[in-house]
Amino acid sequence: MIKERIQELMTQVQQMQAQSAEQMEALRIKYLSKKGEITELFNQFREVPKEEKKELGMQLNALRQMAESRLQEMREAFEAQRAAEDKPDLTRTPEPIALGTRHPLSLTKEEIVDIFSRLGFTVAEGPEVEDDKHVFGMLNFAPEHPARDMQDTFFVEKEEGVQKPTDILLRTHTSSVQTRVMTSQKPPIRVLCPGRVYRNEAISARAHCFFHQVEGLYIDKNVSFADLRQALMYFAKEMFGPDTKIRLRPSYFPFTEPSAEMDISCNICGGTGCGFCKQTGWVEILGCGMVDPNVLESCGIDSKEYSGYAFGMGVERITNLKYRVKDLRLFSENDVRFLQQFESC
Ligand code: DAH
Repeated sequence: MIKERIQELMTQVQQMQAQSAEQMEALRIKYLSKKGEITELFNQFREVPKEEKKELGMQLNALRQMAESRLQEMREAFEAQRAAEDKPDLTRTPEPIALGTRHPLSLTKEEIVDIFSRLGFTVAEGPEVEDDKHVFGMLNFAPEHPARDMQDTFFVEKEEGVQKPTDILLRTHTSSVQTRVMTSQKPPIRVLCPGRVYRNEAISARAHCFFHQVEGLYIDKNVSFADLRQALMYFAKEMFGPDTKIRLRPSYFPFTEPSAEMDISCNICGGTGCGFCKQTGWVEILGCGMVDPNVLESCGIDSKEYSGYAFGMGVERITNLKYRVKDLRLFSENDVRFLQQFESC
């Protein structure tokens, strides 16, 4: 019985014809799929008496091989035909596309800008190579302020190798963009100034000679400290989640009066105290305050008519909190194993 069936199928397989890839697939299913006719014979083969097994087994294998090689021949013929017609093979799986990833610092910066843009802030940029006036002088830094020291700030030599006193330097904060905006625009002003800043620091896990800041500045009539607090609270909740609390501690900056530093409830332990927040439940994220009237005046804005607030934050710091990156150096080493972890962010 099974022997005759093998013969029958042999003849059928020899005469197999297909006009299209679909017909060819139908033949494959008919004979070789799980429920195909040849597969079916293999199932019946288990019941064949021992003495017939050897011969029938050989025939059965030959049948299967013949079907497979006939189908393969047909497949190749179709492919050759398609290539000859120069038709694109729409069934082929595409080459994998290697997608790049956005840098974690860019992700954070974009998120900060996005949040404040909902409060009406726009982005302003300024030069990284700056002069003393815009980085310190107009921001109310006293002439002898230690930030002007060579130990803290990179000064740019005007002539190569000539160490003359110079007032050209790499900006140490993006507050310098404030002075550029205030001298070129009339209030109301509502800007964010993201960018890279430089400080003369030894590189370690916690400090780097360059890093990134986002500065915010709002100048209008009747701007109050309450407005500042409200904007910062909105930011903290949007950035770190609705349960985030903020706290403002009095501080000092030459360009703001009064000044404050802002902490958020530790987003790692939720404020109960952990190693990250040194058991305090709070982590500092930015400096802020009301723009000092001296700064407004030095930029040509009438401090009797206008007031304003400013704030500045480190992008690395926010990124640390958001993505738990502990070593600052990872941000500039461009190790793809580190960067690829932000693929889905
Ligand atoms: N410029 C400050 C720094 O680099 C950050 C800062 C603090 C900016 C207070 C501000 C501010 O606008 O009001 O550390």
